[in-house]
Amino acid sequence: MVINPRWLAWLIAICVATITVAFLSLITRESTVMFVTFAISASATFILVYFTIEFIVLREVNEVYSALSKLKKKDFTIKPKNNNPTLSPIQQLNDELYAYTSGKQQEIDQLKKLEIYRREFLADVSHELKTPIFVAQGYIETLLDGALEDTEVSEKFLRKASVTLDGLNNLVQDLVTLSQMEAGMITMSPSIFNLCGLLGELLDIFEKRLQERNMKLFIHNNTSKCEIEADKPRIRQVFFNLIDNAIKYSYASGEIHIKLENNPKGVHIEVRDHGQGIPPEDIEHIFERFYRVEKSRTKTEGGSGLGLAIVKQILEAHGANIAVKSKLGEKTTFSFDLPAQTL
Ligand SMILES: Nc1ncnc2c1ncn2[C@@H]1O[C@H](COP(=O)(O)OP(=O)(O)OP(=O)(O)O)[C@@H](O)[C@H]1O
Ligand SMILES: [Mg+2]
Repeated sequence: MVINPRWLAWLIAICVATITVAFLSLITRESTVMFVTFAISASATFILVYFTIEFIVLREVNEVYSALSKLKKKDFTIKPKNNNPTLSPIQQLNDELYAYTSGKQQEIDQLKKLEIYRREFLADVSHELKTPIFVAQGYIETLLDGALEDTEVSEKFLRKASVTLDGLNNLVQDLVTLSQMEAGMITMSPSIFNLCGLLGELLDIFEKRLQERNMKLFIHNNTSKCEIEADKPRIRQVFFNLIDNAIKYSYASGEIHIKLENNPKGVHIEVRDHGQGIPPEDIEHIFERFYRVEKSRTKTEGGSGLGLAIVKQILEAHGANIAVKSKLGEKTTFSFDLPAQTL
């Protein structure tokens, strides 16, 4: 049975009026007085009870409904009036209910996002692994189909298969490193070393590629002393990935500038290239795993989109954040700080 507030108010009003008249009958038997008393006390009680229910109880219940309907629309803007002792129990219940449900809803949304991310990640990994395996398989099948007879062709195909499998090996290594770092399984081993020395070593490594593309790499050291405390092999990887990108995504004959400057806590580093640049809408994504601005552009260079994700993880493990500024078709600058005492 649905309890209507109006009927409930009338019921209480009639009970109160009857009791009042019953008491009054002990004093007087005058029917007019008894009737007027009954009418006044019934009306007054009805008004009081009805408005109490309507305006206090139902208003609170309506608030609960409106909070729930906001939650349904994923609007989490209501702020619970926490621990306010003046709140009625219904208001407190409303707050509790809202806080609990919004917490759960946000958890569900987060889990849904993670599920999408996991699915995309699996699809990316399988795609990236499938391609080199397929290519290497192609070379080997061609060899088995008769190309083995020709020594020159077979050597060429074997070399190509080997390069493809090397790429696959690098990809798997990158993936393992990334997941281990994300899972906190790799801890940084800090040591004090000379950053300029490390950049000199990298210059030697990239010299051939730079020459091939007629590019130049400049190191501007404006620091008083070039020493930092960090995990040297990992920082080498950071610079390797950044310089590798700067070469890959630059036009031939371009320049790359690495600038080191003192900052209050250590060294401020900038790696700038005068290359293709990154479109503004892609900038926020380039540190995501497997993200490539333009699939075809990167495919010709053979990148898998893991380089910057690794850079970000390594720098975060050193307590540093990486920033990027880019002008499409002109230049890209990656910058970060490496504190003197990082870990
Ligand atoms: N210096 C740069 N100039 C222009 N675009 C860049 C630059 N660095 C990165 N990008 C863009 O960001 C994307 C992600 O870079 P990232 O280094 O993570 O992957 P990748 O170079 O494609 O592959 P990998 O580094 O794994 O071999 C690149 O595909 C490229 O589109
Ligand atoms: Mg890269």
